[in-house]
Amino acid sequence: MQRQDRHLQLVSEPADWSPASWQARVAAQQPSYPDQGALRAALGRLAELPPLVTSWEILQLKQELAEAAEGKRFLLQGGDCAENFADCTSPHIANRLKVLLQMSLVLVHGLKQPIVRIGRFAGQYAKPRSADLETKDGVTLPSYRGDLVNAPEFTPAARIPDPARLLEGHSRSALTMNFVRALIDGGFADLHHPEYWDLDWVQHSPLEAEYREMVRSIGDAVRFMESIGGAPMGSLRRVDFFTSHEALVLHYEEALTRKVPRQWGHFNLSTHFPWIGMRTAALEEAHVEYCRGIRNPIGVKISPGVSNDQLLRLIDVLNPDNEAGRLTLIHRLGANKVAEHLPRLIEAVKAHGKRVLWCCDPMHGNTESTQSGIKTRRFANIRSELEQSFDIHAAHGSRLGGAHLELTGENVTECLGGARDLTEDDLQRAYRSTVDPRLNYEQAMELAMLIVRKRQ
Ligand code: PEP
Ligand code: CO
Repeated sequence: MQRQDRHLQLVSEPADWSPASWQARVAAQQPSYPDQGALRAALGRLAELPPLVTSWEILQLKQELAEAAEGKRFLLQGGDCAENFADCTSPHIANRLKVLLQMSLVLVHGLKQPIVRIGRFAGQYAKPRSADLETKDGVTLPSYRGDLVNAPEFTPAARIPDPARLLEGHSRSALTMNFVRALIDGGFADLHHPEYWDLDWVQHSPLEAEYREMVRSIGDAVRFMESIGGAPMGSLRRVDFFTSHEALVLHYEEALTRKVPRQWGHFNLSTHFPWIGMRTAALEEAHVEYCRGIRNPIGVKISPGVSNDQLLRLIDVLNPDNEAGRLTLIHRLGANKVAEHLPRLIEAVKAHGKRVLWCCDPMHGNTESTQSGIKTRRFANIRSELEQSFDIHAAHGSRLGGAHLELTGENVTECLGGARDLTEDDLQRAYRSTVDPRLNYEQAMELAMLIVRKRQ
């Protein structure tokens, strides 16, 4: 069936695609479930459970991403590298939402643009791994692939992929979504009172006066809107929030991929914005096959190893109609490689007239290990990759339309540097990530302020 989409393009579901057509392809990064009967039972149940998001929210997000690509909005995507089931708690969810909302208010005010807010949460439970197996003291077990699949302890019972976790992941995602929606509907108080923000860290920054002025002026703007009431206030109270996760475990994604009344095609209703990484971006393989058929906007992570040709072919497969808002390219090149690779990627995309939203992930190209083997990232490198990306896009007649960050609302010590200048010794103090190191509350707020400073 063919219909006109919002962008006046004819688009339709590919005739040779179905939510299960990925199963005929090679699927990288999939758990190997020993009990296929239990897997089928779990997937059957999953396919009957209510979805987590709706098709109209998904189409709304696609529209907003199209506007971001045109320079009318800025995307802020952030959250944990991996959620885990144990952190599905009230403080954890509220703190993460708080830092994302506060960052977005800094960005709204500083960039004078609406912000598209997407959490890396409510389903970010599966991780790609560099090896399928892990060996310790002569014992070999499956690698930990995230709570959606197995548990991190190094025992056979913990590491054998358990299909019951697919159902648990769905319900924890639903609990997270439910709480996020309730907090936002209730007008999350912190948004309206910058004077209550935790800004002790500011005094450690050489930019203290500038930061304080920024927060004061956000407070003034909020109070001004409150005093005049009406529409602007209403729109501040009712912020939109979208969810995203890496679409990795394809049985899970398929079970939540549905048709809905009065719309053509299929939507992945487990999240608004699924993304794939380079490890699962092979053209002929399962993840690309699955993603090409769903109507959600999708993200693709871009590493330095991608050739221009590879990228262009990927764009053709994932967005054959060149639909606006459909594809976000999330480049994660590293502070020392972005200047080498980003210009060629921008030029290739431009030369072929491809419509994409460019978003910078300054985290994953800047991961390093300390002498004592702790995985970390330097705030200065994160800042540098982001700032270089703004400049490179501008110099090539393109636009950086978003930032993709790994962060938490807690005061962890996982990334080095920032206003308090965290050192390697600090990493011992509050390092909680089981996967990648995240910006803490203070570092995340500082980065938002630096983005604004850069763009003014
Ligand atoms: C991630 O976003 O956590 C991730 C694994 O990223 P990438 O695929 O870009 O390495
Ligand atoms: Co990560």
